[in-house]
Amino acid sequence: MSSLNPILITGCAGFIGSAFARRWKQEFPKVPMIGVDDFSTGRRDAILKEMTFCEGSITDDAFLNGILKKYRPDVVFHFAAVPRVGYSVEHPFRTLQSNLSGTVLLLEKARDFEVKRCIYSSSCAVYGASVERPHTENEAPVDPISPYGLEKYVGERYCVLLSKLFGLDTVCLRYFNVFGPGQYGDSPYSGVISAWLSGACSRSVEPNSMDHSKENREKATRRPKKLFLEGDGRQSRDFCFVDNVIDANLLAFQSEQRFHGDVFNIGSGEEIDLLTLKHLIEQYTGNELVLEKRPSRLGDIQQSQADITKAGEVLGYVPRVNFEEGLQRTIQWVKWGCRQEDL
Ligand code: UD1
Repeated sequence: MSSLNPILITGCAGFIGSAFARRWKQEFPKVPMIGVDDFSTGRRDAILKEMTFCEGSITDDAFLNGILKKYRPDVVFHFAAVPRVGYSVEHPFRTLQSNLSGTVLLLEKARDFEVKRCIYSSSCAVYGASVERPHTENEAPVDPISPYGLEKYVGERYCVLLSKLFGLDTVCLRYFNVFGPGQYGDSPYSGVISAWLSGACSRSVEPNSMDHSKENREKATRRPKKLFLEGDGRQSRDFCFVDNVIDANLLAFQSEQRFHGDVFNIGSGEEIDLLTLKHLIEQYTGNELVLEKRPSRLGDIQQSQADITKAGEVLGYVPRVNFEEGLQRTIQWVKWGCRQEDL
């Protein structure tokens, strides 16, 4: 599929959406980008100046309608979400609105304004309690165990249904735990890699209590936060470097095939448990990770690994950056100070 009309990127200020926009700018400099974000989790400094940016929520009908009417995008890359599993357990209704209602509204507008393809960011959280490993896309029935996983799964089903009803071309990419430069570890809901790296790479700066200068006050607020391990550390994930996820989106965009809500696992195919992750971070940073022990998180999945055969066969997807290389690149970025200009 080639495009000259603009593309629409939802969640363009978020970790994956902004990484995608940077890559799009390099690969398709002549195809304009329209970006939307409501900054619920995104960052203002992640917005590219080459993008037409519209601030607002994908749950706002008038806002979304106005954008599609004005810019008539050919393709929608849908990254906007509240991607926090723990937060969804605490706030099932709030996350339902962004993660599901926003998706359905976007698909409805895509129908109304004849978008040629919608690429939906789903999640391996849909597999939930399944013990099958590696996970294949045709596992049935899937059994999500968090509101987030359920919201993402129902979003996929809407992609299938609206394809059937209206002939919309929709693709669902089930990302496995995405990590990389541009992901910040400063929230209580941060993913494990970004959270642990923010602790392992930050210098322990003790402010001088007699010094009341602005610089010293800033040092004080930069003190390393407490890191924690939930559960016994034997839970595993298929950690997927962000560049691989961007590759998958571009491959889905370029595919000549017609899609009807087709689902593809997008991971690295490697399974890493948290104790191994801890060990590797300590080895690469040279710092010991001191982790407070906490009980397992409610709604947590235990084991996760992607079977990426289908994405390889149909889309030509190959994870170009493996887990260890991705981890080292992420550590470098955190060590340099997590600067947007280094991305
Ligand atoms: C992550 C993503 C989610 C994605 C999902 C796919 C984030 C914030 N969420 O959720 O968008 O759809 O993968 O599975 O990236 N843990 C700790 N200490 C911490 C943080 C987490 O021990 O500081 C544990 C958690 O309890 C869990 C594991 O690490 O067992 C992974 O947690 P997390 O990185 O938040 O990822 P997911 O919950 O899998």
